[in-house]
Amino acid sequence: TLKEPQRQLMEERKGRRIIMFPLPFPGHFNPMIELAGIFHHRGFSVTILHTSYNFPDPSRHAHFTLRAITHNKEGEEEDPLSQSEASSMDLIALIRQLKQSYAEPFRQSLAAEVRGGETVCCLVSDAIWGRNTALVAEEIGVRRMVLRTGGASSFCAFAAFPLLRDKGYFPIQDSRLEEPVTELPPLKVKDLPVIKLKEPEELYRVVNDMVEGAKLSSGVIWNTFEDLETFSLMDISSKLQVPCFPIGPFHKHSNDLPPKTKNKEDSETTEWLNKRDPQSVIYASFGSLAAIEEKEFLGIAWGLRNSEQPFLWVVRPGSVRGSEWLESLPFGFIENFGDKGKIVKWANQLEVLAHPAIGAFWTHCGWNSTLESISEGVPMICTPCFSDQHVNARYIVDVWRVGMVLERSKMERKEIEKVIRSVIMENGDGLKERCLELKERANICLSKEGSSSKHLDKLVSHVLSFDSYAFAS
Ligand code: UDX
Repeated sequence: TLKEPQRQLMEERKGRRIIMFPLPFPGHFNPMIELAGIFHHRGFSVTILHTSYNFPDPSRHAHFTLRAITHNKEGEEEDPLSQSEASSMDLIALIRQLKQSYAEPFRQSLAAEVRGGETVCCLVSDAIWGRNTALVAEEIGVRRMVLRTGGASSFCAFAAFPLLRDKGYFPIQDSRLEEPVTELPPLKVKDLPVIKLKEPEELYRVVNDMVEGAKLSSGVIWNTFEDLETFSLMDISSKLQVPCFPIGPFHKHSNDLPPKTKNKEDSETTEWLNKRDPQSVIYASFGSLAAIEEKEFLGIAWGLRNSEQPFLWVVRPGSVRGSEWLESLPFGFIENFGDKGKIVKWANQLEVLAHPAIGAFWTHCGWNSTLESISEGVPMICTPCFSDQHVNARYIVDVWRVGMVLERSKMERKEIEKVIRSVIMENGDGLKERCLELKERANICLSKEGSSSKHLDKLVSHVLSFDSYAFAS
């Protein structure tokens, strides 16, 4: 049942619809859905335009209208990009292909939504879709906001790519990895958010398109909070010259959506965690995209086992090169650690991180994982794999000082054991206290008078002011 003020709000904003266009990867789709929940709570209705690639389960998003965008130039239904075509591509090639394949279906779908009768306040598109979404929105006559699902500090590094290229940082040379990037303190050359590719030009194009697309927007929504990235947020808003709304962490906003459904495996994980001592378990998970070599996988396995700490380890099927799941573990390995360790294919990460048994999160430092760990005050062991993860790890370790680094190139048993021990047993020089302080600061930002709440109020007014503009072409 709705409380009276909320009912009034809903009444007032009847017919106010926001169209969202997420990028179809979990690390991007999930925060967009969380943002949809935030808008919904504020009395908006939300339509999600989604690709047939990584098709979402509609039953999990019953509060929103989901529309598949599948039409070609002639208006006929066709799958613009098949899952099997996509599976052979590297991430940047896949992003390029998604942008290309869905450009026309997106244009047609947005036009149909906007001309469909009900007032549309604005489009919110993932930053990575880039300039094309700006051009299409302008052509159709709808204002466009951008959601950046990553942090502001890594975005500053992306925005500096043209400068860094001029200064000769790219392509990155192995001999310079430890050098500071004087233009972007505290980053070192090895922290620059690149992805190793056969054609590095492709990465520069995607990054540049993202940054230029953000400049053309009516504002950028950030899943971060002011206290965490004060200077980066100031820096980036002056560079982009558009309003910036750091309203995160998204997942901590109260909203009226039903809690995520739990499957049997999640309940088993919780039961297993319930039996562990407080702050004793290492939760190891490397996100939804990163893949590792078999040698690294075995290093992690032995390191976890030899640390003598209980562990919960997410191994996504297909994330170990050349294996389907756990086949490369030595015979008897799982039986050997018995109940002390648990390996799963996927976990309900928000719930896991909030569990009192968790002592540390061994992570690839994807932005969602970083923010989720900070929100729960869990110390991190940082093994960044690519792109923004390197920047996030540098901030976690050197700026916020809520984690320790375990470089991918040094991931062998002894080093792993050492870092785990230092984080969990020796509390890495006051690590836990700093984590709890940062968690508290996140809570303050989310409180009624906090910066994230105030930015959200401003965002709502901003979006509501749009339909007073005559913007149609
Ligand atoms: C990708 C990029 O890798 C990352 O650099 C960028 O910042 C965002 O996009 P991803 O690898 O998916 O991210 O990692 P992350 O950003 O951490 O997002 C993973 C999401 O999946 C998190 O919200 C996490 O809670 C969820 N997750 C992950 C689970 O719910 N269960 C799991 O077992 C693993």
